[in-house]
Amino acid sequence: MHATRTQAVPGTGPVDAEIMIVGEAPGFTEDVQGKPFVGPAGKLLDTLLNQIGLSRQQVFITNVLKCRPPQNRDPMPNEAETCLPYLRQQFALVRPKAVLILGRHALERMLPGVGSISRVHGQIFMRSGVAFMPCYHPAAALHNGSLVADLQKDFDRVRDFLDQLLAKPAEPAAKTAEPASEPEPEQLPLI
Ligand code: URA
Repeated sequence: MHATRTQAVPGTGPVDAEIMIVGEAPGFTEDVQGKPFVGPAGKLLDTLLNQIGLSRQQVFITNVLKCRPPQNRDPMPNEAETCLPYLRQQFALVRPKAVLILGRHALERMLPGVGSISRVHGQIFMRSGVAFMPCYHPAAALHNGSLVADLQKDFDRVRDFLDQLLAKPAEPAAKTAEPASEPEPEQLPLI
């Protein structure tokens, strides 16, 4: 993909962010500006974050893929595999308490086997003390307006969970989380 991209889009945000947001891949605007979620989907993401009292400056935002796929096609499995070590390093450096997973592609990579995004969006999966929270992708909501309300509900749940998680750091996070619907895999591909 380096042959067709303008530049890589590694991610933006404070390295000590408590919240990490992971999308699918850069699009046209991201490819031009070198920053994630700065196009139409990014505007919706900003609005959703603002609605729950978060700003872009407080979160680390990145994607599974660091380069724009030609014509914004879906990522291919080998492309995601190639980029995953980079995401793993980012995760290890930022050490977030919570990870928002945006859309089905990021979900497949980060929580393989938990189910489809339409089934698990809004749920919280604890993995090694980190809360993974799948949400619909903002771009999906731009294409299908009926998902906007679901997305807003997902973000409201994220806010509720963060309020508990960040207000009581001494308490075991798992106590406040919804039980995962499936048993934890022995080893996560991400961590
Ligand atoms: N969609 C994504 O998944 N990531 C971006 O950075 C922009 C749009």
